[in-house]
Amino acid sequence: MNSYIGIDLGTSSVKLLLVSADGKIINSVSRDYPIAYPRNGWSEQNPQDWLDATLRALDALTQGYDKSQIKGISFGGQMHGLVVLDENDNVIRPAILWNDGRTQEQSDYLNEVIGKETLSKYTANISFAGFTAPKILWLEQNESDNFAKIAKIMLPKDYLAYKLSGVHATDYSDASGMLLLDVKNRKWSDEMIEICHVKREWLPTLYESYEPIGTLLPQMARVTGLSESVVICAGAGDNAAAAVGTGTVEDGSCNISLGTSGTVFISKNEFSVDSANALHSFCHASGAYHLMGCILSAASCNKWWMENVLESDDYAGEQKGLYKYLGKNDVYFLPYLMGERSPHNDVDARGAFIGMRPNTTREQMTLAVMEGVTFALRDCIEIAKKSGVCIEKSLICGGGAKNEIWRIVCANALGIEICRPEIEEGPAYGGAILAMVGCGEYDSVESATRALIKIKDSILPSPDLVEAYEKKYQAFKVLYPALKDAYKLI
Ligand code: XUL
Repeated sequence: MNSYIGIDLGTSSVKLLLVSADGKIINSVSRDYPIAYPRNGWSEQNPQDWLDATLRALDALTQGYDKSQIKGISFGGQMHGLVVLDENDNVIRPAILWNDGRTQEQSDYLNEVIGKETLSKYTANISFAGFTAPKILWLEQNESDNFAKIAKIMLPKDYLAYKLSGVHATDYSDASGMLLLDVKNRKWSDEMIEICHVKREWLPTLYESYEPIGTLLPQMARVTGLSESVVICAGAGDNAAAAVGTGTVEDGSCNISLGTSGTVFISKNEFSVDSANALHSFCHASGAYHLMGCILSAASCNKWWMENVLESDDYAGEQKGLYKYLGKNDVYFLPYLMGERSPHNDVDARGAFIGMRPNTTREQMTLAVMEGVTFALRDCIEIAKKSGVCIEKSLICGGGAKNEIWRIVCANALGIEICRPEIEEGPAYGGAILAMVGCGEYDSVESATRALIKIKDSILPSPDLVEAYEKKYQAFKVLYPALKDAYKLI
């Protein structure tokens, strides 16, 4: 049977899935790479590390497998990162990532001088520090030598696709997060290109996520042992790919991702923008659109708390004692370890524990971390509600979704049913599905997800816990505004 590879180029690792055309996982492999924080609030990665890790993972993924069955490859990738290549295709400087906050000044310039209304008219979005356009302005103003060398701009997963296929391409879902795309009309915005001093020839060609962009380069076929006829499809931003991987493609359906970032992703058949542009309005990998709230630190808060602070890798052991505190925990956590994107748009925001007493326990603080992340997602859901979107249930994916107590917190703190798909590898599975559609196994993303995605279990909110979490959320809501000015001083 034909098989397909989905590559999720994440922030801490690359995950590869080998999937048969009937949706079964044949193998999965992941490889880590480092992230550098050269200054507070900055985050960078070396694109060569992505490629090396991907090729190592590909080798392990296909060991002992009949490689002639592999017909296509596609991607989900961390969004917004700026990768710049010179005229000889050398990477000019490390990629500046989606959670890097160095561009506050450039982002303020776009929002205040160009103006939010104008940006929204051109792109359907306003500027956030992590988006790509303010990074381009930052490079021009702070590293003019590097800026002068630019011959190509691309997003992280597009770098992998370029190395594998030799084609400089991107897809509409990922391009939406550059603030250079006219999202509604699915084309580059001439106005934004001019405002950001970008040359049109630097930009990749635009494709739908499921469209083939080319085939494997001969030298890559030699390195990987795959056939030169393997089709490379454009792929998607990791959230749109995760939505495909969890089957979130119908109008109004929702997916929550608890990865390094946390997102609330609402699929929309028609283009729309919320009144204050607090949610991102992006193209979907299915060919439609979506609204999305993104918090910068989600499962990464849990990882930081467990590994850096508690110095424990026994996640299950640490979580065993938490159930008795559900709905009764008076410790609060603000999850803004990297500043915050949606809805506060504040690079100065920081993490905080609030409410400790002499008898506060380790378990309460561990649970508070998950609750705080969930409330930050609820802030995004509240904005969606105000713009008329009604969410009664959601799929869930990402590392945090493997954790039962966190799924219970989500169901009750968000007041919605939380459904877990059988296959939890959101973006990598979505990438494999996009490759299947691109190679003609299915006629559309919708028909593929209808055939392939099954729900494993679901958690319903329970009235007592919903009431307790509602009270706690009302208190959580006043904490960020109370600390906002203090964050500027610390
Ligand atoms: C979305 C965003 C993050 C990254 C994480 O806007 O910035 O979800 O894509 O990989």
